[in-house]
Amino acid sequence: MILSWCLVLVTFTSTTFGTNPGVQVRLTQKGLEYGRQLGITSLQQKLGSVTIPDFSGSQSVSPIGNVKYSLTNINLVNVGLPKSALDLVPGTGVRLSIGDAFMNLHGDWRVKYLYVIKDSGSFDVNVNGLSITTSIAVSSDETGRPAVDVANCAASVASADVKFHGGASWLYNLFSKFIDKALRDALQEQICPLVVKAVADLNPTLRTLNVLAKVDKYAEIEYSMVSSPIVTASSLDLSLKGEFYNIGKHREPPFSPAAFSLPPQTDNMVYIALSAFTPSSAGFVYNKAGVMSLYITDDMVPKESPVRLNTNTFGVFIPQIKKQFPGLMMKLLLKTLDNPTITFQPKNATVEVNGTMTAYAVQPNGTLSPLFVLNMESSVSSDVFVSGLNFAGRVSLNRMKLTLATSYVGLFQVSTLNSIFQTVLKVVVIPVVNVQLAKGYPLPALGKMNLVNPQVQMMKDYMLIGTDVTFTA
Ligand SMILES: *[C@@H]1O[C@H](CO)[C@@H](O)[C@H](O)[C@H]1NC(C)=O
Ligand SMILES: *[C@@H]1O[C@H](CO)[C@@H](O)[C@H](O)[C@H]1NC(C)=O
Ligand SMILES: *[C@@H]1O[C@H](CO)[C@@H](O)[C@H](O)[C@H]1NC(C)=O
Repeated sequence: MILSWCLVLVTFTSTTFGTNPGVQVRLTQKGLEYGRQLGITSLQQKLGSVTIPDFSGSQSVSPIGNVKYSLTNINLVNVGLPKSALDLVPGTGVRLSIGDAFMNLHGDWRVKYLYVIKDSGSFDVNVNGLSITTSIAVSSDETGRPAVDVANCAASVASADVKFHGGASWLYNLFSKFIDKALRDALQEQICPLVVKAVADLNPTLRTLNVLAKVDKYAEIEYSMVSSPIVTASSLDLSLKGEFYNIGKHREPPFSPAAFSLPPQTDNMVYIALSAFTPSSAGFVYNKAGVMSLYITDDMVPKESPVRLNTNTFGVFIPQIKKQFPGLMMKLLLKTLDNPTITFQPKNATVEVNGTMTAYAVQPNGTLSPLFVLNMESSVSSDVFVSGLNFAGRVSLNRMKLTLATSYVGLFQVSTLNSIFQTVLKVVVIPVVNVQLAKGYPLPALGKMNLVNPQVQMMKDYMLIGTDVTFTA
């Protein structure tokens, strides 16, 4: 029915068996910086849940004797993470370093001594120079999605200043050491677990990667990772399969992805590179699904076109048609043969496809009488663009070559039909293909991700989409 493939496209350069990715995704320093901002916001919220337990006891203080004390209602008033960095650790993952962080706490104190004397007041604590260093490993989970995990975490506090309100100054010395210890213990116990939780909370988002993205009723694209993420000094790279499959029937095509490597571009947060293998695998799928064929009838030809699909028009070029089938409408069947060949070159994506064009006369009772079959070699160029989270295409005809395969109406000069079939391709077939291609094909993406100002560049053997991203809450 429909020539869905087209975008689909291209080379048969098979290299190592099945291990090269069809698609690569690169997160740059700029992307990491955006990740840091999101991560710090989330961590700051998590640290807001730090709690310092009440504590109480008694202590002998000379010359007063036994002092019973309690410190209660210790609340975190404020947390600040003014300085942080997220750095790539080649071969491993990323390191999050937080320095000069601070926390402000407020609490109440109460004492009882010399059996009858009671006193109470409040206190404020400023925790300064809090630093947290954590290594985050980036790996691939069992579903082929990226996953993060804290490999190690260390937290330390430089100083804690306690300011008391009310009470006698000798009490301050007593409390200060308790508070200092309680605080360090609490922070030690709570900060790294909160960091681990903040990092683990990224995994549900990473698990929204569309490792199997539905395209239409025939096809889906697999975007699972084919190898572990590669972390270099300047980027984090994911190698994805990037292969179209028949829904439910995963059959490998007789070609595999060629190796390709991304250029050292850094302007965008993310680069998505789709090799020609990805559209080629689509061509394979749609061809196998038998949907790369199209019946063309006269009502599909624009009214203003002088070319009409009837035996009168064709009879001008092939008189036998007018003689044998006078005054009948015609119908054409365009069918592709084999897989299209898709080639990505700098600034140009080309799809070459061979097919047959069968012409029929439509008898008054609906029977189709075959007139002739032509072999058609055609080449189209495609513009590729990004629409939402899809890539889409628009093709235009480069050239077409017709040769006669079979004639039921005697010999004739095929070249006399060139302009009719050029017109049919341009005004009927290509618009039908373009409607299909405009629907788009899902890119690898996380849920709630939006692409900002994506730019497509055609490179040798792959197309590169450079984009910034945002996440909607
Ligand atoms: C792309 O390449 C094809 C094949 O080489 C050529 O026919 C076509 O004109 C080129 N298109 C553009 C826009 O350069
Ligand atoms: C189309 O047919 C020609 C001639 O047989 C051949 O050279 C070419 O490789 C074919 N192209 C495709 C895409 O099958
Ligand atoms: C339809 O009409 C054609 C031409 O008149 C004739 O050859 C054919 O047998 C008819 N078919 C049917 C199913 O009536």
